[in-house]
Amino acid sequence: MAALAVGERIEVRGRAPELAVHVRAWCRAQGHGYDWPYVLRGGAEGARLRGAEVAGGPRVVAERPPATWGLAARGAVVEAGGPAFPFALDEKQAVWTDAAAGIYRQAVANQWDPATAVDWDEPFDLPEDVEAAVVQVMTYLIENENAALVVPARFLGQIHPHFREVVGVLAVQVADEARHVEVFTRRAELRGGPLGLSTAGGQASLLTLLEEPDFALAHFLLSVLGEGTFLSLLSFLERFAPDPVTRRITHLALADEARHVAFGMAHLESVLAADPGLRGRLATAVRRRHDALAHTAGLNAEVFDALVILAAGSFEPDDIAQGFARVQALEADMDEGRRRRLAKLGFAQAEAAELAELHTRNFM
Ligand SMILES: [Fe+2]
Ligand SMILES: [Fe+2]
Repeated sequence: MAALAVGERIEVRGRAPELAVHVRAWCRAQGHGYDWPYVLRGGAEGARLRGAEVAGGPRVVAERPPATWGLAARGAVVEAGGPAFPFALDEKQAVWTDAAAGIYRQAVANQWDPATAVDWDEPFDLPEDVEAAVVQVMTYLIENENAALVVPARFLGQIHPHFREVVGVLAVQVADEARHVEVFTRRAELRGGPLGLSTAGGQASLLTLLEEPDFALAHFLLSVLGEGTFLSLLSFLERFAPDPVTRRITHLALADEARHVAFGMAHLESVLAADPGLRGRLATAVRRRHDALAHTAGLNAEVFDALVILAAGSFEPDDIAQGFARVQALEADMDEGRRRRLAKLGFAQAEAAELAELHTRNFM
């Protein structure tokens, strides 16, 4: 039929007893003429595509993909009359960055398997207090990793699938965090001791991240400020890890976190370029979070002490003094990193310094 011009006919032959009846019904449904045993090519072929819409193009990302494009592939021909999907994050300006495709490829290429990337049986022997310090730090890391998993997961299902590279980056990021939770849990349980303390202040700080309803604000607080701060923390832990397993897992997590921060920065740079007014709302979000947490204790004191012990390497007073100085240097390094990232997002030096200072004492 496809080879015929409209009005041309083709003869139909077959042995089925009801053939004429079925062909007639088919012709009616498809808009072709029927003159048994001939079928006449009608002009209505493709009628079901009437009103259909091409959902952008493989390389054309729509500014605001309609709800009716739904789950369709970018570039698909979407038949009219389909259901509308309520994806709340459907504006390119709010979610898109051209960097997403490259970051996604990099993320997929750099996945690692906790079973083989870490030698869990590598022998080491730590004094009981040092082992307890490692376990306390792991306990703290796990709850922060849980927050870093839940926040992107909450937005993942709200982003229009038309923006598939962004969805892909966040999906892999969630998988990264699941792996971080796994390896930190395995290290915490490696020697069979009890886990450490999870404090009310730490959890209160993380709850404010989970409760931020705006994607750009949540991404800023989590990935630019929180995970940005964690880059310093993880490199500190890698450097002062008292055992090879801790050194290895903090090294692996650090590489993933650097990518999460890079995506957060790229996303916010894109959104800010289109909507400079967002900068004021980002600053307000930092101040509001600071005020909400003003009555809490900030960093878990056990975690602080554990960091000092790890950086000291022993309980000799001179070593402890040096450990303390190293943790202070870590906090200065975290603050410096936050200021640098805020400046890169266009904040003036003074405001970058103020906001960096107001960031939660819980680090994430
Ligand atoms: Fe993580
Ligand atoms: Fe992360």
